[in-house]
Amino acid sequence: MTPSPRAQGSYPKTPDEANHMNRNSRPAITPVAIVGAGPGDPDLMTVKGLRRLMGADVVVYDKLVSDQILDLIPTGASRIFAGKQARNHHMPQEDINSLLVRLARSGRRVVRLKGGDPFVFGRGGEEALHLAAENIPFEIVPGITSSAACTAYAGIPLTHRGLAHSVRFITGHLAKEGSLDLDWDGLADPETTLVVYMGLTNLETICDQLIRHGLSPDTPAAAINQGTRPDQRTVQAPLSGLAAAVEEADLVGATLLVIGKVVSLAPELDWFLPGQVDIDDETGSGD
Ligand SMILES: C[S@@+](CC[C@H](N)C(=O)[O-])C[C@H]1O[C@@H](n2cnc3c(N)ncnc32)[C@H](O)[C@@H]1O
Repeated sequence: MTPSPRAQGSYPKTPDEANHMNRNSRPAITPVAIVGAGPGDPDLMTVKGLRRLMGADVVVYDKLVSDQILDLIPTGASRIFAGKQARNHHMPQEDINSLLVRLARSGRRVVRLKGGDPFVFGRGGEEALHLAAENIPFEIVPGITSSAACTAYAGIPLTHRGLAHSVRFITGHLAKEGSLDLDWDGLADPETTLVVYMGLTNLETICDQLIRHGLSPDTPAAAINQGTRPDQRTVQAPLSGLAAAVEEADLVGATLLVIGKVVSLAPELDWFLPGQVDIDDETGSGD
């Protein structure tokens, strides 16, 4: 029976197993590590993700990966930017897929580094499916998704007793045919926290639709821009005024929308001072 790409790609547990695997799989293909880099603060990357990065020969990375995380890539490793090409176009997904296969077959240790978590609006599943179809071993290293990290850094608990008993993650990105066809009735739930990825472009439509389907215009809402990074900014307003407030603030770059009563806790829980010196850095240096 042919072993699955995952079984082929598992890391050897003993030296004997490693020798056996090397004899039986030539050229040796190290599993492609699809790694979640988290939302930007390098300290939020997982230990496993960092280990894979340190051992990489080549790193294929996205636009959302922060400069501070890119600084962690070993100097000897090649970097390939998969975010945009020369004429400002995204590298098509098929090209990224083929690139990963080519690099893996060349025998290099490949890390595919993605913002947040690879399996949350990150197309990590598509890349993994392609690798599986090509019989390339792979592994998934989860990352902290921006909805968890940005809200934490903005002092917004995603759930809170008495305010929200559930949370929903949605994308505000238009479907191919240009419509934003969401279950507005279901989403307009005052007991639920709604987190919208990629919602900036359609912010006005999203707020209008939620209000039209019954959510109070006074529902607390926020847009978190460049979350967990030194330039993090949070704009807060009632749902009916969020689009205007965001326009006024002129937010550029990665932005997450959070809608629900939990946003009202932010003024009390807002602990993160963007740009502050890390306490460990202060006390650790010079000892
Ligand atoms: C293509 S999705 C990728 C999501 C990613 N896989 C994750 O788990 O966070 C891109 C969207 O994620 C959100 N996002 C990612 N990083 C962010 C950050 N540091 N601050 C605010 N929003 C962020 C924004 O809504 C952005 O438009």
